[in-house]
Amino acid sequence: MGGENGGLEMSGTAQKHVVLGVTGGIAAYKACDLASKLTQRGVQVHVIMTEHAARFVCPATFRELTGQPVVVDMFAENPGLPIAHIALARMADLLLIAPATANVIGKMAAGIADDALTTTALAVEAPVLLAPAMNTKMWEKPVVQENLAKLRQRGVLIVGPAEGVLACGEVGAGRLAPVEEILAAALHLLGLEEGAARKAGTGTAGTASVPPAAGDASLAGWRVLVTAGPTQEPLDPVRFLSNRSSGKMGYAIAAAASARGAQVTLVSGPVALQPPVGVEVVAVQTAQEMADAVAQRLDSCDVFVAAAAVADFRPATVQPEKIKKQEGTETLELRLVRTPDILAMAGERRRQRGGQGGPILVGFAAETGSRNLIELARDKLQRKGVDLVVANDVTAAGSGFGTDTNQVHLVWAGGQVESWPLLRKDEVARRLWNRLSQFRQGRS
Ligand code: PMT
Repeated sequence: MGGENGGLEMSGTAQKHVVLGVTGGIAAYKACDLASKLTQRGVQVHVIMTEHAARFVCPATFRELTGQPVVVDMFAENPGLPIAHIALARMADLLLIAPATANVIGKMAAGIADDALTTTALAVEAPVLLAPAMNTKMWEKPVVQENLAKLRQRGVLIVGPAEGVLACGEVGAGRLAPVEEILAAALHLLGLEEGAARKAGTGTAGTASVPPAAGDASLAGWRVLVTAGPTQEPLDPVRFLSNRSSGKMGYAIAAAASARGAQVTLVSGPVALQPPVGVEVVAVQTAQEMADAVAQRLDSCDVFVAAAAVADFRPATVQPEKIKKQEGTETLELRLVRTPDILAMAGERRRQRGGQGGPILVGFAAETGSRNLIELARDKLQRKGVDLVVANDVTAAGSGFGTDTNQVHLVWAGGQVESWPLLRKDEVARRLWNRLSQFRQGRS
């Protein structure tokens, strides 16, 4: 079976070449299906297997499915491919590695090239798409996330992983993304229209507008509004009341949505972070300014995520000049007044417009102490009329303000509570968008 190209060429598209790297994990068997589906769509698939992968699946399976020789050993004679890694790197319109183990991710991040696949990865100039698959604990290790972050920064695209039951019996993130999802991302990157339309879910063709860092366009068409950082409430021209928020959590949420193709506006208090790629940033200082910026944009978004630590009170008056120490006075009394509650305003606006329509509303709850965390979050959820509150204990080690990690509990309006382990904030953001995608599907 297989034949020269193994399948029908899509009309109007030149033959595309995908180098499919298969690494040593149990999900290697799913790569057979992927190779077959790509071949059926007229893509010429050239498989490179690591030696470990060849212990899970026989190279002959890929050879039969693709009609092409399979490279395992770069020193073996590979007919038609004199210097296999260079020939394949030149030929590739896309290097797709599925499954991508923690090992290959680590090697690529470190620039190690010690077999046919990693030498090809180092030589290739075409886009690179990785579909990671591994045990949840491995996936959650900071070193793996750091390696992926490095690769993302270099323009490598990532699809998945999915969550669910893993081969080892554990439940969590680390399953290879569904083959259909990897296929759609690959076809999308190859500019094959079927993939672009299906992936974007819009029925429209064309791939040019997908940002290069996306790789996963599962939020294409979504309009997302995020708040992040602290607010500063001036006392006088040189002083203000504020809090310890760094903006990292909200920026990670905005960046993760943008990387998946969403149109994202980030209303940000004063922080020292770079704007995420592709995100429109609206810089504000006070709670009132943040409220105004959100109010203007709320009706044209599909999801509003309030991750900012907004001051609940501001000085009743802002002194026009620096407050001076008074001779003989040891105290200074400040009168504070409430600021607008932005999230509650969003909940109220949606309620007035008939409940179910309008944006999905997500708040955060910053609590100090794990006792009653869930009850306090549930209380906020009800008072503010939102769909989800992400609760974090900002006094817990590694959680809350300024950290790169966070431990969160998702408290849903439907009553469910999900507690996640301590994760990097970008991983919290990634998982949050997975859950919001599912929620949105269930809502429509
Ligand atoms: O920025 P980092 O350093 O990464 O830290 C992340 C974080 C701790 C700031 C973040 O994870 C977080 O918990 N954000 C919410 C902080 C907060 O203000 O929580 P709250 O429980 O006081 O407010 C509840 C919700 O109402 C929040 O979604 C908040 O944005 C919103 N709110 C609060 C007050 C107000 N006047 N308007 C609001 O919209």
